[in-house]
Amino acid sequence: GTETHIERQDWSFAGFTGQYDKAQLQRGFQVYQQVCTACHGLKRVRFRNLAEPGGPEFPEEAVKALAIGWPYKIPGELDDQGNPIDRLPGLADQILGPYRNDVQARAAQNGALPPDLSLIAKARSVESHAPWYSQWLHMLGDIVIGYQEGGPDYLYALLTGYHEVPAGMHMTEGMSYNVAFPGHQVAMPPPLSKDTFIEYQPESGYKGSLEQNAKDVTAFLAWAADPTLDSRKRLGWQVMLYLLITTLLLYLVKKQIWSRLK
Ligand code: HEM
Repeated sequence: GTETHIERQDWSFAGFTGQYDKAQLQRGFQVYQQVCTACHGLKRVRFRNLAEPGGPEFPEEAVKALAIGWPYKIPGELDDQGNPIDRLPGLADQILGPYRNDVQARAAQNGALPPDLSLIAKARSVESHAPWYSQWLHMLGDIVIGYQEGGPDYLYALLTGYHEVPAGMHMTEGMSYNVAFPGHQVAMPPPLSKDTFIEYQPESGYKGSLEQNAKDVTAFLAWAADPTLDSRKRLGWQVMLYLLITTLLLYLVKKQIWSRLK
């Protein structure tokens, strides 16, 4: 059938208390850098964000070097001949992909548009056709138990969802079969596979694999789409504690004031 298949995953950042795992964000960035940048930009993230608290927190010097070495330059003004004078990116610049605009991107990708990945972990492509109460239920699920079918769970399912074309299914030229993608025909060739994945540094304690790469890059993209999650959740608990103490104090004061009216 055309049912999409999306399984629930455990995410360190899910639920009321969940926080990002810095080491995972670092591994995820490595996957983004070595695989996804070939087609996708991340324009809402600036290089300096990679060094800021709550994210991968790479050392600033390393991020500076990374920016200067980024394969895609920052488009600049035109020279007298009308050719762009591009410049090297720095800490304050956006993380750009290879294409300057959608026309260029489509031309390079057989007519399909590789979307910017900055907010993709917030996209709800899966449920957008579901009735409103179902969408609300999912949102509640996101908050309470961290079931993120439209976001990270979908990304992971997509990246690990390339399988052999089932017998009898007709595929359009240049498309790949994917169990998670709506309609099952996706224009993105498998970015990772059982044979092509990113190996991590041995000191990280993690071996590379298709599944591990997919999990890590998904966590990284979740951070890119919601970089203040850690501090927001911490603040939330502080506010709750503050309100609890205030409530207790007000209760005691109330008892004291009204005590003579027994
Ligand atoms: C679409 C992620 C690598 C080309 C997408 C989508 C996501 C994604 C989330 C949107 C799917 C949707 O609409 O539901 C990633 C990640 C990558 C990666 C995380 C690295 C691990 C690549 C590479 C290429 C590519 C290397 C080019 C060779 C495309 C294209 C689409 C797309 C053409 C549009 C697909 C369609 O609309 O049918 N990608 N991608 N991606 N990606 Fe990638």
